[in-house]
Amino acid sequence: MAKLGAIKPMSALLSEAHTEGQHELKRALGPVNLITLGIGAVIGAGIFVLTGQAAAIHAGPAVTLSFIVAGITCAFAGLCYAEFAALIPIAGSAYTYGYATLGEFVAWMIGWDLVLEYAFGAATVASGWSGYLVSLLQDFHIYVPPQLTTTRGDVLYFYQAHWLPLSSLPMGINTAGMRHVTGVFNLVAFVAILAVTFILVVGIEESANLNTAMVLIKLSAVGVFLVIGIAFLVHHPALAKINWHPYIPPSEGPGRFGLGGITAGAASIFFAYIGFDAVSTAAQEAKNPQRDMPIGILGTLVVCTILYILVSAVMTGMVSYKTLNVADPMAVAIDVTGIAWGSLLVKVGAVFGLATVMLVMLLAQSRIFFSMSRDGLLWKWAGKIHPRFRTPYLSNLVVGVIVAFLPALLPIDRLAELVNMGTLLAFTIVCAGVWILRRRMPNLARPFKTPWVPLVPICGIVTALYLIWTLPALTKEVVIAWLVVGLLIYFTYSVKHSKVQKALGTERK
Ligand code: ALA
Repeated sequence: MAKLGAIKPMSALLSEAHTEGQHELKRALGPVNLITLGIGAVIGAGIFVLTGQAAAIHAGPAVTLSFIVAGITCAFAGLCYAEFAALIPIAGSAYTYGYATLGEFVAWMIGWDLVLEYAFGAATVASGWSGYLVSLLQDFHIYVPPQLTTTRGDVLYFYQAHWLPLSSLPMGINTAGMRHVTGVFNLVAFVAILAVTFILVVGIEESANLNTAMVLIKLSAVGVFLVIGIAFLVHHPALAKINWHPYIPPSEGPGRFGLGGITAGAASIFFAYIGFDAVSTAAQEAKNPQRDMPIGILGTLVVCTILYILVSAVMTGMVSYKTLNVADPMAVAIDVTGIAWGSLLVKVGAVFGLATVMLVMLLAQSRIFFSMSRDGLLWKWAGKIHPRFRTPYLSNLVVGVIVAFLPALLPIDRLAELVNMGTLLAFTIVCAGVWILRRRMPNLARPFKTPWVPLVPICGIVTALYLIWTLPALTKEVVIAWLVVGLLIYFTYSVKHSKVQKALGTERK
């Protein structure tokens, strides 16, 4: 009889963390690589797309407060991730931490749940990326057949030399008689995921170096936006005063402005922070994980929170929040300065920026499957390392090909909600895990300690559950269905092949 609560012994985890060799992942990443990996995963569709919608629909100029609220939620979880990642520097992240504390069954479910965060996260961002790339190409009058740039059934209209969805057309425009097409398959997003998969197969150093270069371009675009925006605000203080007033617009119903709008805004821009935990999946590739994991995770959170607060404050000062419900709010804001290359720069930054998010998300996904396979909970091929590239290439390839179909076929908002839910569930388990392990093994030498345990883990659990509660019912149902599929795999394959179960069986004999 399988023991669902079987815990992977800490001694086994620590010995895995110190194994080196041709069939292991390569320890090549330092603290700067790890922070850039984190920023690579974090700054993306959230800031380039969702900030405008959160300001226009939920919070107004107080979207800066929404960023602070969401940042605090992530900080609770980030502190817990930092403790685990330094203590158990294994590629499996929340899955591995769950295995060490809550038992095999919970660990399996959380590993399966992380697919929603990483694989679906990459798919969501691929969708946004294709939108930005296609728009950038159209600025130069280069046209991909529009049917192949969006999902099935979406209608695009030809307006001012661009193919645009109805939501991006000016309000009240008469679409009758306008040229239009209906989407078939988002080939651009499909190819994007396959290209990123290829890079990941070729090597961790190549991936990290490319990621660093692209992160620099993305940060430069954000930096130039801030410099231009702040200079504009300094020269137009009266305009800024009008745009920032009232800072918290009066409530217009649940989740629309007022104090409720700030928390609703926080739930919607939570997506902008997702990815800092992806740093922990590179723990087995870090040169000095005990020191560098907390630096990578918390450093990423600090840098991104500061940038988000600045960008949202500047953006809502430059233009009225009411005009920001568009796919490219940063480009719209910068247009007000009259600097013609401004919006081009933002689009280029977004194209590179979103590419790094896909890269790190897919990297993280393959590392989770790698860890699960090494534990015998997934098929052996998922843990196979390429002898030359030293990457889990089969896991990369299988995940990449399957994930490529998601943005090609499913709409971006549905995907994003699944990602939020998957991530919040993982946060809950990690926070609970830190608390449980502190009670169970209080004397373990922890290179980094989450402060104020159990207060910080409890705050992390409560805030994550609150944000889950705000998600639509359909999202919750889909996640439950997903977890049921996970249950089937666990009971038909994993329990029979689990290495921890086998070791327990041997002990019993
Ligand atoms: N945080 C990532 C983004 O905003 C997922 O794209």
